[in-house]
Amino acid sequence: MIETPVPAVILAMKPLAPDILFFSLQLDTGTVSSNFSFVPGQFLQISAAGAGEAPFSPVNLPGDDGVIELCIRKAGHVTAKLHTLQTGDYVHVRGPFGNGFPVKQMEGQDLFLLAGGLGIVPLHSLLSYLVMHRQRFGAITFMYGAKEPSALFLRQELQDMACTGNIKFMVTVEFAPEDETGKTSCNIGLLPDLLQGAIITAERSYAAVCGPPALYKCLVGELKTLGFKEERILLSLERRMKCGLGRCAHCAVGQDLCCIDGPVFPYSALKGIEGAL
Ligand SMILES: Cc1cc2nc3c(=O)[nH]c(=O)nc-3n(C[C@H](O)[C@H](O)[C@H](O)COP(=O)(O)OP(=O)(O)OC[C@H]3O[C@@H](n4cnc5c(N)ncnc54)[C@H](O)[C@@H]3O)c2cc1C
Ligand code: FES
Repeated sequence: MIETPVPAVILAMKPLAPDILFFSLQLDTGTVSSNFSFVPGQFLQISAAGAGEAPFSPVNLPGDDGVIELCIRKAGHVTAKLHTLQTGDYVHVRGPFGNGFPVKQMEGQDLFLLAGGLGIVPLHSLLSYLVMHRQRFGAITFMYGAKEPSALFLRQELQDMACTGNIKFMVTVEFAPEDETGKTSCNIGLLPDLLQGAIITAERSYAAVCGPPALYKCLVGELKTLGFKEERILLSLERRMKCGLGRCAHCAVGQDLCCIDGPVFPYSALKGIEGAL
């Protein structure tokens, strides 16, 4: 883990939506090989000079080449500054922090990955890991929901990975324009609706969920109805982070700290904690 921020140059930036930019960063390769190993679901602290630091999940598993890919939505102070940068500019990187998804525990099990909106980011890196180690896992289903087809970010990459890894890939949107024959390019509905038709053996399955907070409550209810035990429903939480090292308690979730014990928590650890979801 890199505790003190190290520089990374911006190799490329491209817009995914009016308020979301994709960044490709290059870390110094010496730094990477000596300090940088990464579990999907962990996060990095990225800082922009003069604006401060914020947590982001990498899109892919950072490799030996030192390339880090991020999708960053303009939300406030730090992210607005990051959006003003250009190729060739530098940011600083610390991490990775947090626990990530319990990929060893998930081995041999069927997996349901459920992503809403920009919650796709950590689940994209989890999918990369699963495809890389495909033989260790049972059946995998990836369900992805967004407001409209143009908000299904990274769709082609996900489809390609799903094809390579024999993964069932399903998308749904709340609204989609109709073509001249009255057909839409996507299934219309909410993410929990996709679970209705799925064949699930809950006792040997894990669900990994990432999306906006409103999604969690309805998905947890649906997954429990389908027989998932609470410790098999894994939720990736967003909290305001400062130190990332368990020292400042900015990211407290009940007695736990999101930067150390999370950001991935089983629902069993969150239920009953006011404001956790
Ligand atoms: C583990 C983790 C992974 C994340 N991954 C990504 C990612 O891949 N891409 C991405 O775009 N964003 C991600 N985020 C969210 C991102 O960190 C925040 O959008 C960012 O910190 C906002 O910083 P800012 O200075 O631009 O906004 P601020 O000026 O701090 O705040 C802007 C507004 O957003 C609210 N806000 C800020 N941070 C949070 C937060 N963490 N949770 C809820 N509300 C908040 C503030 O209350 C305010 O209303 C992640 C957060 C966490 C904790
Ligand atoms: S961010 Fe400081 S304790 Fe978690």
